[in-house]
Amino acid sequence: MRAALLATVSFGMMAGAAFADGEVNVYSYRQPELIQPLLDEFTKETGIATNVLFLDKGLVERIAAEGANSPADVILTVDIGRLIEAKDGGVTQPLQNETINKDIPAQYRDPAGEWFGLTTRGRVVYASKERVPETAITYEELADPKWKGRICVRDGQHSYNIGLFASMIAHHGAEFTEKWLTGVKNNLVRKPDGNDRSQAKSIMSGECDIALGNTYYVGLMLTNDKDPEEKEWAAAIKVLFPNAADRGTHVNISGMALAKNAPNKDNAVKLMEFLSSGKAQEIYADQVFEYPVLPGAKVSDVVASFGPIKPDTLPLVDIAANRKLASELVDKVGFNDGPTQ
Ligand SMILES: [Fe+2]
Repeated sequence: MRAALLATVSFGMMAGAAFADGEVNVYSYRQPELIQPLLDEFTKETGIATNVLFLDKGLVERIAAEGANSPADVILTVDIGRLIEAKDGGVTQPLQNETINKDIPAQYRDPAGEWFGLTTRGRVVYASKERVPETAITYEELADPKWKGRICVRDGQHSYNIGLFASMIAHHGAEFTEKWLTGVKNNLVRKPDGNDRSQAKSIMSGECDIALGNTYYVGLMLTNDKDPEEKEWAAAIKVLFPNAADRGTHVNISGMALAKNAPNKDNAVKLMEFLSSGKAQEIYADQVFEYPVLPGAKVSDVVASFGPIKPDTLPLVDIAANRKLASELVDKVGFNDGPTQ
C-alpha cells in the first residue's frame, strides 16, 4: 500500500514536467533521499532538471508496460540480480561511452553496456567484538565445525546471499559449494531469519558470534540517530573482510542503465557520465556508505573506519551467471531449514 502510494505521488510530481526539454527522467529502486544530493549536483553543473520516479518493486514490469512511450531515461537500482533482470526484461539499451568505460572498471559493468556499477558493497562477516578474537576469516571456513552453533544469517534465497553463493560456485564449482553450504547450514544457530541489521542485534544479544552482512548497514546503524538502538547493535560487532589475504571479498553493486526508449537520451547519457565521475562517485558513496567503483575515489570516514577492502576481482557477469544454480543449491541442501546435524 505504502509502495503504491509513494510511486503514485512521485510519478504525479514528475508527470507535469517530464517531457519538457532539458530534463532527464530517473526510474529508481533507490530511495529518493539517497540520490537527491547527486541529482542536485548534476542539475547545478549542467542545468538539466531531473525527475525521479521511485518504485520499490515492479520497475521492469512498469517500463515494459509503458513500452515505446515510456518516459524512463535512466534506471538506478541495487544488486546485480536487478540489473540483469532489467537487461533480460528488455527495458535497457546498450551504451558504449568512452568516459563511462574509462571510469568504471570492466569487472563492474556489462560487456554489452546494458548496465554499469556505480558503487560496491562488501558481503562481509559481522563478528562479536567480545567473543571473536579472530582478525581474519575466509568464506570457506564458515563451513568449519569450529563455528558450529555460532553463525546467524538471513534467508539463503535473499539476493545478497545468492550473489555470495554464486561467487563461491564461480571460484570453486557447484560440488564444492553444495558441500560448503551444507557445512554453513549446520553451523547456524537457528533457521535463517531477519535482515542484515538484525543479525548484528543477534550478535549483541549473544545469540550468535558471527553473521553475514553488507558493509553499508554497519555505516547506517552506526549513524542511526532516528533509531539509536541500532548504534548499540553496530557497536557490538567488528567487520571482518573475508579472504582479504587471498582472493578478496565478495562485492555486489548498485548501478545504472540506459532505458530502452529513453526519450531524453542525450541528457540521460550526460547524467550517466556524471554519475561515473569522481565527484559524483564520492557524493554517492558518502551518502549510502558504499565504495565508489572509480579507483582512487574516497570512501566516507565511517566506511574507512572498517579498514581497507580488497574486492574479489572476478567480473560480476561471471558471478551472476551462477545465481540460478546458487538458488537451486540453497533449496537442495535445505539451507533455510537451519541446522539439521
Ligand atoms: Fe540492502
